[in-house]
Amino acid sequence: MHDGIPSSKRGFFYVAAVLLIFMQAGLWSARRRTQEVFPDNSLVPKVPSLFSLIKGESRTTIKEHPIPRLMAEAEVQFRERLTRQSKTLVKAVAEYKTRFKRDPPKGFDDWWKFVQDNDVLMVDEYNAVAEDLEPFWDLSPAEFRQRASLAGHLPSVDLVKVRGGEGKAVNVKDGFDSPDGVSERAKGFLLMIEKFQDKLPDLDFPINAMAEGRILVPWEHRQYPNLTDGGVAEQLSGRYSPDWRGEGTVWEAFRRTCEPKTPARRLFSSTRASSTTQARLSQLDAIDDEVTFVRSVQGNFSFCQNPWAHYSQGHFFSDWRTIPVLFPIFSPAKASGFLDIRVPSHYYHGQTRRYTYGWDPVNLERHHVDHMEMPWELKSDKVFWRGASTGGGSSPPGFAGQYQRHRLVQMASDLSMTNRTILFADPPGSTTYTFTEVPTAVLNREVMDVAFVKLVGSFNFPGGPDALLRDHRFDEGGVNLGDHWKHKYLVDIDGMGYSGRFLSFLESDSAVLKATVYREFFEEWIQPWLHYIPLSPTYHEIYNIHAFFSGGTDSTLHAANSTALQLPAAQRRSLHGDRRLRRIARAGKQWKRTLGRRVDMEAYVYRLCLEYARLWSDDRDSMNFTL
Ligand SMILES: *[C@@H]1O[C@H](CO)[C@@H](O)[C@H](O)[C@H]1NC(C)=O
Ligand SMILES: *[C@@H]1O[C@H](CO)[C@@H](O)[C@H](O)[C@H]1NC(C)=O
Ligand SMILES: *[C@@H]1O[C@H](CO)[C@@H](O)[C@H](O)[C@H]1NC(C)=O
Ligand SMILES: *[C@@H]1O[C@H](CO)[C@@H](O)[C@H](O)[C@H]1NC(C)=O
Repeated sequence: MHDGIPSSKRGFFYVAAVLLIFMQAGLWSARRRTQEVFPDNSLVPKVPSLFSLIKGESRTTIKEHPIPRLMAEAEVQFRERLTRQSKTLVKAVAEYKTRFKRDPPKGFDDWWKFVQDNDVLMVDEYNAVAEDLEPFWDLSPAEFRQRASLAGHLPSVDLVKVRGGEGKAVNVKDGFDSPDGVSERAKGFLLMIEKFQDKLPDLDFPINAMAEGRILVPWEHRQYPNLTDGGVAEQLSGRYSPDWRGEGTVWEAFRRTCEPKTPARRLFSSTRASSTTQARLSQLDAIDDEVTFVRSVQGNFSFCQNPWAHYSQGHFFSDWRTIPVLFPIFSPAKASGFLDIRVPSHYYHGQTRRYTYGWDPVNLERHHVDHMEMPWELKSDKVFWRGASTGGGSSPPGFAGQYQRHRLVQMASDLSMTNRTILFADPPGSTTYTFTEVPTAVLNREVMDVAFVKLVGSFNFPGGPDALLRDHRFDEGGVNLGDHWKHKYLVDIDGMGYSGRFLSFLESDSAVLKATVYREFFEEWIQPWLHYIPLSPTYHEIYNIHAFFSGGTDSTLHAANSTALQLPAAQRRSLHGDRRLRRIARAGKQWKRTLGRRVDMEAYVYRLCLEYARLWSDDRDSMNFTL
């Protein structure tokens, strides 16, 4: 992620090059506006800048599409990262010290043997572990251990206890260690530590039973960790209820994690902002982002700097109360601002019919090829998504229409004649790309196959179930995991938390388009534009991703009055683009089978456990590993 020229600079070089060709007024203002709205430098502000100056002109063309460049850069970056991984324990120790300015934890040599024995390819990229544990170094060992034990009393938190080299998952709520009512996530964690638990000292791991992140510590309390001591007791005094009960929201709690001078902190009151919601969200739509491609998913997007954007993400409206105290809690994902400690999701490590590619639930074994897999040539060219109308709670109510899932389904259900700007190769297969305006209704019919399959929380939808059904396509048929493999393009977006389907989608022979606000354990191991296609939070560029890989649809060719219309239908498609899409599908599968294996997840957790054990110890220095 830090290789070579920073992405902001690369973007700048490209823009500079483009400028030479299209030096016109308007470009800079458009670019500035885009960056204000999405200041994250992973955005590629290329084509919209171009587009803003050529809008209205007919048959404007460009000679270079941004996507091949993104793919080529991704491949180089990933290969460089993979090849520079340490080859010996000595090198790994040196790399560790360079990165983290301390010795590796005790047991690092055993861990090294584990990763060598299991052909784990990423042996240096564990910045996520260091980042997640960093705040806990400020707590004394005694305080740290106390918080870990107390955390077991919080709602929807189980403890995995390691005693004498053996782990067990317990529910401590009733005052004794009970194996009853222990969550699937705690059981999943037990399986992840199975192979090396005998090497661990006695430890307690508080495991989050929910998909949602839990820990949001106010900014001031992070500066002075001792401020929270009184809070710990209060949290556990019995007044703590699992849901908000009108006494706050995730957004309110999140806001307090922001630095005092940020826009999110300056807002008078976020709940009173509802009258301006629509105006704020229209900022999101106002960007000419239909031809803008992002470099990565937006897990680092700053909601502190862009408070209005929180209306677009359901997790800010979750009914589950977050915890304002720094407890160590192990969660499958974290959104920006959260201080949960990431572990692989039990959906990824476990093997089930709903979440595992190739799982045979009858014989309880895993097949190399899923029984519903399809040859590439037979897959449809449509962009496919199915899911329930979840994705956020109702705290406060009335905002569900803008949650991440609803926005996707609305966009794909839109049968209006509003135009979208499409950039496509004309003639097909060439590298001359033409902009044209195509009505949304026809594009959606040709390109998108997106629907809700289950009505959830419709009472929370403004206007009720009728309004929900009017603006969102519903597919009564339901969907199995295997039904996805009929399509080349699979969209993966967040639900109530991270998407548990991601790794199975990757393993399939289809290509994955992903948008998320969460960061997961594998973020340093995977490469957007190589293993999957990253999507912006608006998804507006989906049509142009499709146009690049699959070529202009018939209505696009008509809108542009393309000469390709004289070709037989089979030759109107872009084989070039199709091959590139297939390459992403294959790279994703290869990733899952070489870097996203169960044992890779275990290697991650093993290293995390060693770090955790050092924090746990009264004499942390004695828990260092030195050669
Ligand atoms: C917390 O720590 C700060 C700096 O270490 C100190 O100035 C302050 O008095 C402490 N507060 C409490 C309540 O202990
Ligand atoms: C996100 O932020 C973290 C912490 O600042 C950083 O380590 C990580 O590289 C960032 N990720 C991306 C994709 O920019
Ligand atoms: C869509 O674009 C076409 C071609 O540029 C134009 O003729 C038409 O008026 C546009 N439709 C709308 C609703 O703007
Ligand atoms: C479409 O293109 C054909 C030739 O390729 C031309 O004769 C015709 O005038 C064009 N129509 C429009 C509306 O531009």
